[in-house]
Amino acid sequence: MRFSVISDIHANLEALSAVIEDISKENITEIYCLGDLVGYGANPNECVEIARKHSFKCIRGNHDSAALDLRKTESYNSYAIVAIKWTHDTLSKSNKDFLINLPFKIIHKNLLFIHDALTGRDKYILNTIDAGTNLELMNKNHPEKNICFFGHTHLKVTYTQKISNLKDKAAELKLSSDIFKILDGSIYLINPGAVGQPRDGGVEASYVIFDDEKNEFRYKPVKYDIPKAQQKIIDAGLPKYLSDRLGTGR
Ligand SMILES: [Fe+2]
Repeated sequence: MRFSVISDIHANLEALSAVIEDISKENITEIYCLGDLVGYGANPNECVEIARKHSFKCIRGNHDSAALDLRKTESYNSYAIVAIKWTHDTLSKSNKDFLINLPFKIIHKNLLFIHDALTGRDKYILNTIDAGTNLELMNKNHPEKNICFFGHTHLKVTYTQKISNLKDKAAELKLSSDIFKILDGSIYLINPGAVGQPRDGGVEASYVIFDDEKNEFRYKPVKYDIPKAQQKIIDAGLPKYLSDRLGTGR
C-alpha cells in the first residue's frame, strides 16, 4: 500500500491545501503527519480541521505543545514566541482538544514516526553524526524497525546506515525526484521536509510517498500560493520576518 508522510505544516493553509490536493491526485488516502500543525502561520484552526477531516495519523510537535501550554516556549526566538501566543489565543477549544490528545510517537509494522529525534524531545537531527547516533539508538531500542520518519528541522533529508556498521556516522542520500529503494540490512531516517515553512532554500512544500509493498519512496515538491500565505501573516499582525522567510525558504 502507498501512504504519504507530511510534516511541519505550521498553519500554512495554502501549502497544506496544495499538498492534500497532490496526495489525492496520487490516489493516496492515508496521511501520516509528523507534527507542528500550528505555529508561525495564519491559519491554525483551518489546518487542524483539515487534519481532523482527513483523519491524519498525527503526532504532536513542539509548536503544537507550546500553543497549548505557553510555558514551553523558553528556547524559542522572539518571532516564534509572538506567533505561538497568537496561535494560543486563536485556536478553538475543540482544536486544542484535538492537539492535546495527539501521541508523541506512532509505531506501525517496521516503521516509526516521531517529530524530533530518538535522542530526546526537542533535539534536532542535523547532520550525519546526529543521524548515526539516532540510528544506533533506534536499532538498540527498536531492533525490529528499519525506518524512522522525523521532522522538526524543516529540511528534506534521508540518512542511512548498514546495521553491520552502526558505530559509524550515517550516510546522507543525495536527494532527487528519483525513487529510492529500501535496502535489506540497512536502516533509515527519512525527513519529508516541511509543508508550511521550508528552511533548505527551496520554497515549495515537500512531502514523501512511501510504498510498503515495493519498499521504496520518493519526495514530492508541491507549488502553492506563497504570496497569499505571506499576506495572511501580515494581515494577522504576525512578524513580517515569518512572511518573508516563506519567500526564501530559509
Ligand atoms: Fe516545525
